[in-house]
Amino acid sequence: MPNSKIPAIAGGVMSLNRVIDPLRMFVRAHGAYLYDDQGTKYIDYHAAFGPYLLGHGDEDVDNAVKDMLDSGASLIGAGITPWESEIAELIVDCVPGLEQIQLTNSGTEAVMYALRLARAATGRDDVLLMQGSYNGGTDYVSFNLMDPHDLLKDHEPGSSYPLRPITAGIPNAVHDTVHVVEFNDLPAVEQVLANHEIAALILEPILQNIGIVKPDPGYLEGLRKLCDQHGTVLIFDEVKTGFRHALGGYQSLVNVTPDLSIFGKAIANGYPMGVVGGKESVMRYCVEKDPSRRVMVAGTYNGHPMVAAAAIATLKKLRARESEIYTSLETLGERMQLGLEEIFRSRNYPTTIVRQGSAFVVYFMDHAPRSWHDIATHNDSTQDVAYRKALIEDGIFHFPVTTKQGSISFAHSATDIDETLEITQHILNRIGSA
Ligand SMILES: Cc1ncc(COP(=O)(O)O)c(C=O)c1O
Repeated sequence: MPNSKIPAIAGGVMSLNRVIDPLRMFVRAHGAYLYDDQGTKYIDYHAAFGPYLLGHGDEDVDNAVKDMLDSGASLIGAGITPWESEIAELIVDCVPGLEQIQLTNSGTEAVMYALRLARAATGRDDVLLMQGSYNGGTDYVSFNLMDPHDLLKDHEPGSSYPLRPITAGIPNAVHDTVHVVEFNDLPAVEQVLANHEIAALILEPILQNIGIVKPDPGYLEGLRKLCDQHGTVLIFDEVKTGFRHALGGYQSLVNVTPDLSIFGKAIANGYPMGVVGGKESVMRYCVEKDPSRRVMVAGTYNGHPMVAAAAIATLKKLRARESEIYTSLETLGERMQLGLEEIFRSRNYPTTIVRQGSAFVVYFMDHAPRSWHDIATHNDSTQDVAYRKALIEDGIFHFPVTTKQGSISFAHSATDIDETLEITQHILNRIGSA
């Protein structure tokens, strides 16, 4: 079974970024561990691409969902439910930069509505993206995620990239409204904003779909200033950074307030929720009097009580035990980073471990990257993938694609980290410097 494709699934996996070779069938997950159908147990650092901040099957979250189901409540689809009002107030209380929110079922949908809101608020069409920032699957953000080095090598800093869609099926008309620049290249943003009418600049404030690429000091502040000067809506996509690094989002750590924010993943510890929220001056376009500028946010399952109950329990737990949980995540993250640095120091190929709290990555290059361009130029992706595959063979699950982030959860223990380090040492002796 693990190596066979399921013919009824187009592409063999649900969500086409889940391809792993060899294919494995996972049957159970609990706390910090995954189990496959061959009875193999793995320490999980993939965390389903990020949501499991509290660990798989967190009792408080799952019990809240069971209580909701037992209460006899259901999705009503009219008016409002107590779960929706409670979660909306909790989110706005947790994240200082939010005045109002709408709930969706995924980050992708939340991004779609954020772009609509920005267009309604500015009366403009164009959007500006960052090379290396993943912002979900809608047409307007599906460009230049990780261009191959051949296409990047002639890129001039301070300029934008030629557009390269990452999927078929995007109408040509969409290309005319999208611009892409490199992360940490403020002059490039300045150039695009000065020469085009840009409705929205959207980015992950740390690029966490290509590992952990941090903003240069002053970069996010610079974006804030440029957007203010040019009347562009600044959108932080915090689907990966939100709640993982701080209850107030990464924006609360750097003290830069975007106009709109997107949340997802960790907010409901594995249940499907997306959030678009921000300043009332932009969110009010949901109820704008002029119908030509009123934004429709609609979804049968938006604010589903089961998902809202999970998010309420997650945020209440994070808030009630904020210091304990984030201190534990930081301590475990540091233990991992120091351990990996020591193990890799003695190897004859360069590596750099980059970390933000509980999120970490090993780059196979001699410095912490500032951009995707830097990674595509310097990271040894062959070595990176060989390392990941060897770890999986020995029961440590990192996603086997170059630069994918490792995520530690509150369910991991120091013993898990030490076991991971011991196995890492062992597999490096085995794979050598191939
Ligand atoms: C930063 C970021 N934004 C948006 C998305 C899309 O979220 P979803 O997969 O819930 O649609 C993702 C998903 O990985 C993401 O990492």
